[in-house]
Amino acid sequence: MTGPSSHAHAVEAPMGLLAELTHRCPLRCPYCSNPVELQRAGEEMDTATWKRLLGEAAALGVLQVHFSGGEPTARKDLPELVRHAASLGLYTNLITSGVLLDGPSLALLADAGLDHVQLSFQDVEVESAERIGGMPGAQARKLALARLVTDAGLPLTLNFVVHRQNLDRLPRMIALGLELSAARIEVAHVQYYGWSLMNRDALLPSRQQLERATAEVDAARLRLKGRMVIDYVPPDYYAARPKACMGGWARRFMNISPGGLALPCHAAETLPGFDWPSVATGSLAAAWYDSEAFNRYRGTAWMPEPCQGCERKEIDWGGCRCQAFALTGDAGRTDPACALSPDHGIMLAAIEARGEAPPDFIYRQYGPPPGIKQSAAKAP
Ligand code: SF4
Ligand code: FES
Repeated sequence: MTGPSSHAHAVEAPMGLLAELTHRCPLRCPYCSNPVELQRAGEEMDTATWKRLLGEAAALGVLQVHFSGGEPTARKDLPELVRHAASLGLYTNLITSGVLLDGPSLALLADAGLDHVQLSFQDVEVESAERIGGMPGAQARKLALARLVTDAGLPLTLNFVVHRQNLDRLPRMIALGLELSAARIEVAHVQYYGWSLMNRDALLPSRQQLERATAEVDAARLRLKGRMVIDYVPPDYYAARPKACMGGWARRFMNISPGGLALPCHAAETLPGFDWPSVATGSLAAAWYDSEAFNRYRGTAWMPEPCQGCERKEIDWGGCRCQAFALTGDAGRTDPACALSPDHGIMLAAIEARGEAPPDFIYRQYGPPPGIKQSAAKAP
């Protein structure tokens, strides 16, 4: 099952497995990283299949499992899956909105061997947070859960997805991390594909907002050295070079969708022309090493110019394939976030076209968003 394939000499095992247990979630964030076409409960893999996949992941060499969604705590079998992963020696991280957990359910997870909790906040200001997440009452539940997590002795990371409608409160986000005894906070600018691309004008910050935020992060990192780690993911639209999305296509991470498709990232399902391997029936090792889909953009051989002759090609791996597709219609092009890309002007035009006032959000929901076809989720 995990024996070496013809690619094994060149391809390392994935370090992390992103187990998207479900797309169900009580929140409706307009930047959700789930695909626009969400899977329903009846399409989710069962407990036995997930346990088999966790076993295969450990045998393959995976070190960390990130239980994610949707909201992974919507799955009643989460403690059983955490216990199974822990028994295999896997490091277990729960990526949660926190709104479905209380003391007893957290205790079950801690008892099962959960190693870490990553708790998302939509903002620090209650009214804004609950408007962005589309769920009244969510903020108090998150704050209560954060305290339960640290009381249970579990390491806590707060995750803030930042954008034009909350970025000005960054200092208060950092202060909340300290107040809640978080070991780490992650401040991540929205990445634009799927839901967030449809909401780009409502989310894209101004250059002034970004410059102020970056300076605030730099100052806070110095001030809080040794007390709290601040991870900062800057926005591609104001960058001159792209990020190594997922650490490079099919290099470090494998994502499993609720229905059992193996993907190199959470957004890849939206790319057309791929035959994504099913691990509901097939093996993780075959998907990782042998599938055409994983090998298509692995390494550097596929790269067009200017990447092919570029000294950064093994640093950023040509950026993000999903962003390249979302903006150019071709996943095989250089990420337009790169100033050397012939398509970089698409990003500059989007910044230029950004309106003074943000439009209303298009919230995440099941079924097609009103008036918008999935294929229309492209840059203007
Ligand atoms: Fe990265 Fe390609 Fe831009 Fe070079 S040309 S910096 S490899 S995206
Ligand atoms: Fe798919 Fe970047 S999100 S490659």
